[in-house]
Amino acid sequence: MPEIIVFGGINMDLFAYIPRSTQEGETIQATSVEFFLGGKGANQAAASARLGAKVSFVGTIGQDQFGIDVKKLISKENIDISKLSSSRDQTGVALINVLKNGRNEVIAFPGANKQTSSKLISDKKLKSCSIVIGQMELEESQTYNLFLRAKKNGCQTILNLAPFKTIKKQLLKQTDILIVNEIEFSGLTRRSSKKIDLKFVENNFSRLDLPPQIKLIVTMGEKGVVVFAGGIKKYFPSRKVKAIDTVGAGDCFVGALGYFLLNDSDIFSATHFAICASSISVTRKGAAESMPSIDEVVKIL
Ligand SMILES: Nc1ncnc2c1ncn2[C@@H]1O[C@H](COP(=O)(O)OP(=O)(O)O)[C@@H](O)[C@H]1O
Ligand SMILES: [Mg+2]
Repeated sequence: MPEIIVFGGINMDLFAYIPRSTQEGETIQATSVEFFLGGKGANQAAASARLGAKVSFVGTIGQDQFGIDVKKLISKENIDISKLSSSRDQTGVALINVLKNGRNEVIAFPGANKQTSSKLISDKKLKSCSIVIGQMELEESQTYNLFLRAKKNGCQTILNLAPFKTIKKQLLKQTDILIVNEIEFSGLTRRSSKKIDLKFVENNFSRLDLPPQIKLIVTMGEKGVVVFAGGIKKYFPSRKVKAIDTVGAGDCFVGALGYFLLNDSDIFSATHFAICASSISVTRKGAAESMPSIDEVVKIL
């Protein structure tokens, strides 16, 4: 069975559901507070696994209570965590405020995630796998080393450039599919704009000067998705749903895209599938916790 390796961050997410943003110096009451498994890597691994993919998650936790807690939570998903390592640093934590309209504010502390080494994944393991997914929660050099070996061993590489960072060209050269949201896209262009919409993306794509093999996917929340692949540009609207918590929507998109590509290389069909999956995740609380099953996605395809 083809396999996905997700090389990325794992965090304890502390969610506060709040009526509105606070002003400086102000205290407001949350309507509820919840603890969930998070980290872009862990979320993406959970998304692929719930859909039915064979997934290995490779990352690092600390030797503290949050480390014990997140390990317990990720163990409930059908994910191979034999390469989950631990370090003396604190387990990664994200402080997440979810506003009434489902929008969110996130502060993430990477902690132990930064100790994750690409050496945890052997060439033998890469040979048996078909897709490698990375984000920017780990050290860029480790993701680069892994992608370099992944390409040599015949894997397809997916890079989610989140949280945004200006990266070296060498990492992009080892990337087959680059996934960004609209804010990360504007970071890539080094241009800011009051309105980052479809028009902005279309007008600025050519400024990116991406290596020719890259397929670029720009997700824009409820405003839809644009795919640039092999000289073709295609726009997909998002599904209309009542969003209550959009945390992890992008992670669901990435995990679902990876799952689909295990069996079908068409990037446009994969995008449609990932839009359907992520539209379900925004109707539920939590990040990893909100990922849908394959039956739920098939119903709305
Ligand atoms: N409010 C929403 N309604 C419907 N679908 C949504 C909504 N927010 C996100 N999605 C879906 O999730 C995908 C990823 O969300 P997006 O906000 O673009 O990523 P990120 O979480 O990285 O900011 C979108 O492309 C869309 O398909
Ligand atoms: Mg978004």
